[in-house]
Amino acid sequence: MNDYQAPCALLKNKIILITGAGDGIGAVAAKTYAEYGATCILLGRTVSKLEKVYDEIVEKGYPEPAIIPLDLNGATPSHYDQMAMTIKEQFGQLDGILFNASILGHIGPFADIEPDQWQQIMQVNVNSTAFLIKSLLSVLRASDNASVILTTSSVGRKGRSFWNGYAVSKFATEGMMQVLAAEYTNRNIRFNCINPGATKTQMRASAFPAENADTLKTPEDIMPLYLYLMGDDSIEINGQSLDCQPKR
Ligand SMILES: NC(=O)c1ccc[n+]([C@@H]2O[C@H](COP(=O)([O-])OP(=O)(O)OC[C@H]3O[C@@H](n4cnc5c(N)ncnc54)[C@H](OP(=O)(O)O)[C@@H]3O)[C@@H](O)[C@H]2O)c1
Repeated sequence: MNDYQAPCALLKNKIILITGAGDGIGAVAAKTYAEYGATCILLGRTVSKLEKVYDEIVEKGYPEPAIIPLDLNGATPSHYDQMAMTIKEQFGQLDGILFNASILGHIGPFADIEPDQWQQIMQVNVNSTAFLIKSLLSVLRASDNASVILTTSSVGRKGRSFWNGYAVSKFATEGMMQVLAAEYTNRNIRFNCINPGATKTQMRASAFPAENADTLKTPEDIMPLYLYLMGDDSIEINGQSLDCQPKR
């Protein structure tokens, strides 16, 4: 899966929503999905970053994306219902979602947790995913085969000191994926997680400021698994949590 070579029309005619599409892994995933034929819906909170990704996709001649500026911290279920209606009107269906947006919060002792920050981490990393899925199920059902990918982390599988709210949010992400995958077994929507592993982005630099980032994989390096899980070659895969870098 990590050396998967996607056919060039893998995602042709697919409509794919990517959260956190303005930077890091999400920006590269959006450009990669567009390269393989998808019409991407770019969701994020910083419009200038989304517009940069939009311009790069259009300049390359890939399908024109759409932009949804939205701060997942302040968004409510009614925003998501409105978004689902807009997607239905404009595209008729949704064939994939990459839930990629997350925040790290403070890395440090559990005793130092700030309640406001804990709530924010849960809102952006967990609650927004749950309510977005709830709202978007109607457009996902209209797809022949929809793939929903949630983004996890190694600290969401085995607890590690100091990763407090972020780690707990990733445990919740793994659990949400399993619940949904079980409920939708043998239906047209599959749910899986990707763990990117250590990847050269702003988030990684915040977590490990002293690290030599040049030793890390780049978002581009890890795209084979993102393509595999989004495309129909992985149609039998449901309820799994897969690693881009199994040995890290
Ligand atoms: N990089 C790694 O080593 C690593 C390892 C394991 C797991 N992951 C996971 O991989 C995913 C991508 O991480 P990354 O390293 O690419 O992170 P990143 O560089 O920090 O990018 C995160 C993206 O999410 C967006 N975002 C954050 N809060 C948001 C909000 N409230 N509303 C809307 N969008 C918001 C950011 O928007 P702005 O640009 O506007 O801030 C940004 O585009 C995350 O789920 C992360 O937990 C990463």
